[in-house]
Amino acid sequence: MRRVVLVFALALPLATLAQAPLPPEPRTPPLLLGAAWYPEQWDEATWESDLALMEQAHINFVRVGEFAWSKMEPSEGNFKLDWLERAIRAAERHHIAVMLGTPSAAPPAWLTQKYPETLRTNADGRKDGHGNRQQFDWSDPKYRELARIIATKMAERFGHDPNVIGWQIDNEYANESYSDIDRTRFQQWLKAKYKTLDNLNKRWTTAYWSETYQSWDQIPIQSTYGNPGLLLNWREFVTDTWRSYQRNQLDAIRAHVEPRQRITTNMMGWFNAYDHYLVAQDLDFASWDDYIGTGQMNPAENGARHDLTRGFLRKNFWVMETQPGFVNWSANNNALNKGEVRAMAWNAIGHGSEAVEYWQWRSALNGQEQYHGTLVGADGKPVPLYSEVQQIGADFEKAGDALAGTTVESDVAILQDYESRWAIEWQKHNQAFDPVQSLLSFYRPLHALAGSVDIVSDTAPLSRYKLVVAPALNLLTPAAVTNLEAYVRGGGHLVFGQRSAMKDEDNTLFTQRQPGPLAELLGANVAQWYALDKSVPVSGTWGPGESKIWAEQIAVQSPETKILMTYGKSNGWLDDQPAAVTRKIGRGSITYLGMSLEGATAEAAAKWMLKEAGVEPVIPKVPKGVDIAVRSGNSKDILIFTNYSPETRTINLLTPMDNVICDCKVLATGPLGIGNGVKSFTLPQYGVAVMMYGK
Ligand code: GAL
Repeated sequence: MRRVVLVFALALPLATLAQAPLPPEPRTPPLLLGAAWYPEQWDEATWESDLALMEQAHINFVRVGEFAWSKMEPSEGNFKLDWLERAIRAAERHHIAVMLGTPSAAPPAWLTQKYPETLRTNADGRKDGHGNRQQFDWSDPKYRELARIIATKMAERFGHDPNVIGWQIDNEYANESYSDIDRTRFQQWLKAKYKTLDNLNKRWTTAYWSETYQSWDQIPIQSTYGNPGLLLNWREFVTDTWRSYQRNQLDAIRAHVEPRQRITTNMMGWFNAYDHYLVAQDLDFASWDDYIGTGQMNPAENGARHDLTRGFLRKNFWVMETQPGFVNWSANNNALNKGEVRAMAWNAIGHGSEAVEYWQWRSALNGQEQYHGTLVGADGKPVPLYSEVQQIGADFEKAGDALAGTTVESDVAILQDYESRWAIEWQKHNQAFDPVQSLLSFYRPLHALAGSVDIVSDTAPLSRYKLVVAPALNLLTPAAVTNLEAYVRGGGHLVFGQRSAMKDEDNTLFTQRQPGPLAELLGANVAQWYALDKSVPVSGTWGPGESKIWAEQIAVQSPETKILMTYGKSNGWLDDQPAAVTRKIGRGSITYLGMSLEGATAEAAAKWMLKEAGVEPVIPKVPKGVDIAVRSGNSKDILIFTNYSPETRTINLLTPMDNVICDCKVLATGPLGIGNGVKSFTLPQYGVAVMMYGK
């Protein structure tokens, strides 16, 4: 990012500071356009015309197999993979690579019938059954054995296949199981963690309501309401169990495949039934399924979900599924507007995706999702959206070389933490308080000004960031405390949002008031928090505004701690009290916001944060409705501009840049551009410009 700013300020080409990017894998284009293809649902005679249409749309990969267990193993031990081999070869003839999915999200009927113990038990005690999907118990050893066997068979067969580029394990991990056996496993897990019941009882404060446990088998599962220590441990157990569930197949695949076949699983944005940082650890790259459902795409909110996914492994990721216009499972399955699907694809690339894959290629004739958007109808002919996706494919081919080896390099990080989100969701105190919205209230103005933001865990390395924001970071482990303190003392600028640093790693209240172990460094603490029934006025450095939903009354202890914002007249308790404070620590600083960030105040606060931290806006004046994303690497910066406003917008650059794809009207060119050297251009609604600066 620093380079882009210098481009505007000094108009100088700069050597990259990026980490050396990995060369693209053989056969893998730098930008991938894909479709979820289900050859098992179709007569093989249809494959050829489907694949020919894919090739014409510049689709260069398909994901295949993730629900096809009954076709791959029609009865136990009877493996049938020849059809899959034929599908892979057919795709290859059309220059389409294959991502293989292991089929464990859809166990076949024979399996469920023969091994009913593999079925999942819902939280209400009801056993799941055959006929939908994901009916398995993620901790069941028999299920894992059978899933491992099919994954092994696939890997043995296709691990050296030149047309297979990678693997997706299972599909959208989601549902845990609540059987008596699961409970016993949870109890064993707790025993391994806490060693003694005395320790557990103390750390969970089980003297409360006579919860004290005298033996491990007394401990229940609680997942929505209960002892906060127990609730947190159940989610951690769920996470660990998904991790070992995944590891089971991962190890089986890794043992047989070439390392160029990279392994992932498709995650789900803000979905939070498990800690994604831990589950992603074992994967080669992260990927996710980007669906809007009802309404239109909000580029900042969708961008944040990409950034979240990029943060799981802190590198580029894939969009493994996205909607071809519309879905079938939302309240109103409206279509994205004409042009918006293309804008959405570039939103993904701008935030660090290497792939955009449409779910699904062709309408299945029957099955639960007949109304879902596709690129080809049940008749095998293109639907209207097909040509827009074809244009995306053409864009990707044009822009691939420019984007190869680039990633998002931000000076700004927002910390995201599953434990903190869970802790708040179990005790919201104000139903309207949403930790994700709280994060987005910082993200929106920071991304608009800085052009890129990383979203990472609170134990991620932070020294490369000029600014680190921690919204609603409710729980702090000792490792996080050390990380944050070292960041500030090392010259970093740390900003806490509301509800931060209240509890420890057991979901137990700190005995120091917020921000707990960092209160002394701040020279202030939270005297009291308040759920609000009406908004509270605030004023100060960031202008007049209001705090909604929540407000924390801050007490200042150190003369070095400056008050930035103050509450106005409200419930009496908050009147004239500090709403945001900051303290300089060497070259760094620590700031705490007791107020929420709304409207113009949010923008002013973001400007202040960036200025304090020395982060320049990526482009001084961004026209309203125009979204910017930046990728850098290989001595170049790529700025992706997308116009979401209904009106045509003009963008003026301070220095000419090359148009890598162009649906913009060139207004002026300058002398410094290497290719077409555009300095000023217009974009219609949903118009995209991919501007390159560098070689
Ligand atoms: C995803 C799922 C796909 C398909 C899609 C429909 O969550 O992974 O298999 O069901 O939703 O939008």
